[in-house]
Amino acid sequence: MELFDVYSLFNVTPERARGCTVWDDQGQEYLDLYGGHAVISVGHSHPHYVQALKDQLDKIGFYSNSVRNPLQEELARRIGAASGYEDYSLFLDNSGAESNENAAKLASFQTGRDRIIAFRRSFHGRTSGAVAMTDNPAIVSPFNTHHRVSFVDLNDGEAVEDELAKGEVAAVIVEGIQGCGGIHLPQAGFLQALRRLCDRYGAALILDEVQSGYGRTGKFFAHQWAGIRPDIITMGKGIANGFPCGGILISPRFQARKGMLGTTFGGNYLACAGALAVLDIIEQEHLVENALEVGEYIKANLPASPRIREVRGKGLMLGIEFNESVAPLRQALLYDKHIFTGVAGQNMIRLLAPLCLMKAEADRFLEAFNEVIAQ
Ligand SMILES: Cc1ncc(COP(=O)(O)O)c(C=O)c1O
Repeated sequence: MELFDVYSLFNVTPERARGCTVWDDQGQEYLDLYGGHAVISVGHSHPHYVQALKDQLDKIGFYSNSVRNPLQEELARRIGAASGYEDYSLFLDNSGAESNENAAKLASFQTGRDRIIAFRRSFHGRTSGAVAMTDNPAIVSPFNTHHRVSFVDLNDGEAVEDELAKGEVAAVIVEGIQGCGGIHLPQAGFLQALRRLCDRYGAALILDEVQSGYGRTGKFFAHQWAGIRPDIITMGKGIANGFPCGGILISPRFQARKGMLGTTFGGNYLACAGALAVLDIIEQEHLVENALEVGEYIKANLPASPRIREVRGKGLMLGIEFNESVAPLRQALLYDKHIFTGVAGQNMIRLLAPLCLMKAEADRFLEAFNEVIAQ
């Protein structure tokens, strides 16, 4: 049997990794400014994280959600304290898409409505509802087009109100910073307007923090720069540093009902052990602060070049938009300079480094980047 061929692959075979460094099967060292697509939050194979998973596996690896799991309770308490959402509750699942799916479902249960407002250039995942809320026709199958989703421009409060006024809107879903769509930031005033509008029209405000959350922008969640409190916050990616895990934070105004949400694997012992170790490391190593400091250092030291159209982002969620396709630049960075970077669309290099990136590593990238764009 062969693999179903859906991924474009670089010709690199990572074999081991530590911190922000990856080694391939030839022993070649790479600097990782992509973090496996924003997943590696505390650095690859952090010893505390590795030990926590090993210790947990020695005790018990899995049981179902039909028994008490104190690790889930501890994780809820710890995420609440780390994020400032102590009064919210936590539902654990397995991925970003599943988190968004659960958030939309919960909003629909609560309001009895079925319309969703999402934004142009959004990405919310690949499952049925999540992909329907994603503004990319290339990945939406006919099966997924039956959801009632309206797309409006980011930062256009009037357009949101026009849609809300048509009625039946269960939720507005917005990314803390649009990632896959090309690092577009919702303005603080716009997020504040969304909060007011959702309250006025009785819709839930869902913040998708799957990519922008967990410290990446220098606050626990990116929307916290705007000082708002959404009704539901969705998480994934960095929450357990690569062990599959997702979750949603739910405002106290939502009432749980037995059987309302559920999952086989969500909140399993290993995911919880990994997620607790991640929070330990984030706190002990001050990684939220580091993400902001090193990210802003990169932004401030990127070269001025007529080839660069704009640099956008916050902390370690950065997009460098060019006037041309970045494919050759990324190849040069990977194969000549041995640096992993991400991409958004054709023209943007996207940096999603582990939150532990050091200034010396940022300098290595800046030097290589200068050389590559001068070629
Ligand atoms: C903002 C956002 N939401 C949701 C997802 C989907 O997450 P997953 O691939 O874990 O389902 C992603 C993944 O890139 C994302 O960036």
